[in-house]
Parts: sequence; structure tokens; C-alpha cells
Amino acid sequence: MVEIWDNVIALALLKGYYEAGLIFIEVYIMKVAIIGTGYVGLPTGVGLAELGNEVFCVDKMEEKICALNAGELTLYEDGLEELFKKNVQNGRLTFTTNMAKAVIGADVVLLAVGTPPHPVTKEADLQYIYAAAEELAQYLDGYTVVATKSTVPVGTGDEIEAIVRKVNPQADVDVISLPEFLREGFAIHDFFHPDRIVVGANSKKACKVMQKLYAPFVGKTEFLWVKRKSSEAIKYASNAFLAMKIHYINEMADFCENSGADIHEVAKGMGMDSRIGSKFLNAGPGYGGSCFPKDTNAMAQMGRKYGVRLNLIETTIAKNDERKKEMAERVISKIKNNPQGKIAVLGLAFKGGTDDCRESPAMDILREMLEHSSNISVFDPKAMANAEKLLGARVTYAKDAYEACENAEIMVILTEWEDFKNLDLKRIRGLMKAHKIVDLRNMLQAEEVKKSGFEYSCIGMNS
Ligand code: UGA
Repeated sequence: MVEIWDNVIALALLKGYYEAGLIFIEVYIMKVAIIGTGYVGLPTGVGLAELGNEVFCVDKMEEKICALNAGELTLYEDGLEELFKKNVQNGRLTFTTNMAKAVIGADVVLLAVGTPPHPVTKEADLQYIYAAAEELAQYLDGYTVVATKSTVPVGTGDEIEAIVRKVNPQADVDVISLPEFLREGFAIHDFFHPDRIVVGANSKKACKVMQKLYAPFVGKTEFLWVKRKSSEAIKYASNAFLAMKIHYINEMADFCENSGADIHEVAKGMGMDSRIGSKFLNAGPGYGGSCFPKDTNAMAQMGRKYGVRLNLIETTIAKNDERKKEMAERVISKIKNNPQGKIAVLGLAFKGGTDDCRESPAMDILREMLEHSSNISVFDPKAMANAEKLLGARVTYAKDAYEACENAEIMVILTEWEDFKNLDLKRIRGLMKAHKIVDLRNMLQAEEVKKSGFEYSCIGMNS
């Protein structure tokens, strides 16, 4: 209790400062249940606990809940561990497999379970979210807002609401859409500094509850109150747009390579136009992760369902797949005279800052490379364990970048880890047998690499 009031006072002070000394303080503490403890549910739970709420995170996987209760994080996120430990210790954050314990008396229930792509149709598979809705509905008591954080097709809120009302017709409940825009690897930063909070609700009462839940962000971030279906569409439209932006810059990179322009300079010049914006203009081996590939496919499916051919999105999907193959061919072509030559691969996660290898371009490129080479050593600062689950004994796992490069003919950078910018190139040159670097994330300085005696190729410049 003391801890809660400490936090209330801290928040009140922050808000007080923010409002430039006005003595107007609004802080609410709620009971929040979060269903799903993955890359969205866990950081969101930790963030909401840090804001002072009483948070119960629910998951069906007992071993996950046991690990979390034993103080072990089940995924890597920068800055997560400290806040996780703090809020478990002060009793604001609880992990359980018991849905009733979490949902009874909750003001807000957040659905944050996976919506993986169907293996054949690529549509979002909603079985987990519907099962969660059915289970939680029976425990609703008092007014509750059930908010969908998982990325779900337009109209899913209607289905969830129908399930909840069927299971518990007496429930005083509003079902809303509360899309998540956290980036993996930056989830804690993004939780506390959201660009916008989108609330898709067909009820004013639910909007008021959301205003209270996010009271500490009022005045600091944009709130957008829209229809539930619009909110569901905003999430897909945003991810698909970002994926298209990456595809566009990758296409421009190919153009620069052939025309003699430099993609760094081109992206910089484009990004200075505020209508275009400088973010998401890093050319690379193609986008990946658990969101963009899944959400672009689901969006294309939704387009077909509603009779609208989303050509830009469909092209983006096809070209992104092709790109990963082309990237593998680039590497293989460099060792075609010595197919037994060792390849050192740096980076396995789908992007820097995370241990997640789901739909990682690095994994797809590696699989292609394995068709031509059986001598590949890999290193990633955080993703070794997850990569090993996917690649098994087909590659060797090095303890660091330098071990991976020992006796290698070629070094390939596949993930944009900041650490790779500071590699000791002189040391690496001494370790390698031949001296080729293929940098598919443009992490290194071309001039410096060439001065260090390497043959260097990267993306978007004729190096
Ligand atoms: C993405 C969105 O950025 C989040 O806003 C959203 O909440 C999340 O999906 C989700 O739907 O849950 P995330 O998957 O964590 O976040 O990863 P991003 O940082 O967007 O990167 C996705 C891929 O694009 C990575 O493979 C990355 O390397 C690649 N990328 C990104 C580029 O190749 N170039 C860029 O300029 C930016």
C-alpha cells in the first residue's frame, strides 16, 4: 500500500510539474488483467504496473508463468528487467495461469494473445483470441472494459463482443480496440513515449476509463478516439505502410547501386522533407519479424475479402520475399570459387535490440546460404538461443564476432546491431583467411573498411 501511494505521489508530482505548477492532480489506480505474456503483453504489463496500477498477467503456459514468478524474464527487452523486478517486488505485478484471479474485479482486461498467420491462407488466426474472450467473459463483474491489443482484422471486435455477451449476458462490459504500436527492442521506451494512443470504442463510458488508464500521458501524447473498426484498420494500415516504405527504399537502393548514386545520401535528402520523414528509410536485406510479414499478408487478405485489390501491399510482400533470396545469392556469388570456404554470419535476430528470430531475414538468408555451404559460423549478441532452436546443428555457434570470423573467407552482417559498428577490423583481418565483407545492413564505414584491407560490399552504393 505504501508503495502504491509513493507512486501516486511521484506521478502526481510529475503531472503537477508538467502542468506548470497548477495544483490539479489526477491519478487513478486500476486493476488491469493482461491476457498473454509475449512481446506485447509483458512490456505493457510492466509499464502499467510502473504507472501504479495493480496488474495481473495471465498466460496458459505454466513454465512461462513459473519462470516469471521466479523473477526470470522470458524475453529480452532493453530496460525491461529493472522495471519488472521492481514491480514484482512491490506487489503491483503478478503472474498467474488463473484467469479468474486476474479478471474478477478488473477495471480493464487487455487481450494480448498471438494472432499468428494461418499456414495456408495467411489470414490472422483468431482462435486464441476467441478462446481467451470466451474464458474471461464468465469472470466479468462490475463495469469492465475489454480492450484488444492484439492485431486483429477489421470486425474482430464485433465477434469478441458477441462471444462475451453470449457467455455472460448480464455482464456490464464494453469491448474496445486499443492497438499497440510498440516496437520490439524498444518496447519500454515506446510504452512511456507513445507517438499516439488510438482508442476504438463505440461507448463514451469506455473512453473515460481509457482516459483514466492513460492519465499520465494526457498532454504529452496525442489521443485519437475513433470507431472500433477504424482503430482495427489503423493498426494494419500503419504496419503495411511502414513495410512499403522499407520496400521502397530497398528498391531505391538497387537503383542507386546500378546508377552510381548513394542510398545514404538519397535517403537523407528524402527524409529532410517532413512529408516523407527520415524514419524507416534504412535500406537492408528486407523486413522481417513477427509483425510486418504477418500483417501485410493479413491486410492483403482483408482487401480481397472486401473486394479491394491492395496492389501496393501485394507487391511489397512478393518483392520482400524475393529480396532475401537475392541477398543470399550476393553472398554465395562471392565464394563461388571456394564453396567450402567458411562464412561468418554476424546477426540473427530480425533486427537489432531483440532476441527474436521469428521471420528474421537473417534466418531466411541463412537457410538459402545453407543450400550452398555447410561451413557457416554464426554470432548474435542476444539471439543465439532462439536461433539454435531454428537452425540446430546446421551451423556452428561462436561466442563472439571474432570467434565467428576465425579462418573465414567472408564475413556477412545480417542484423543492425549497434555493436557491429565498433568491430576491431584490424583484429578481424588478422583472423580471417580471405578478406571479404558483405554488409547487408550498412553498419560499417566503407572507406574505413577498405583502408583496413577488405573487399567490401554493402547496400545501395557501388562499393
Ligand atoms: C513493428 C512496428 O514498427 C511497430 O509500430 C508495431 O507495434 C509492431 O510492428 C507490431 O505490430 O507489434 P517491430 O516488428 O518490432 O515493430 O519492428 P520494426 O522496428 O518495425 O522493424 C521491422 C523490420 O523492418 C525489421 O526486420 C527491421 O530490420 C526492418 N527495417 C526497419 C528496415 O529494414 N529498415 C528500416 O528503416 C526500418
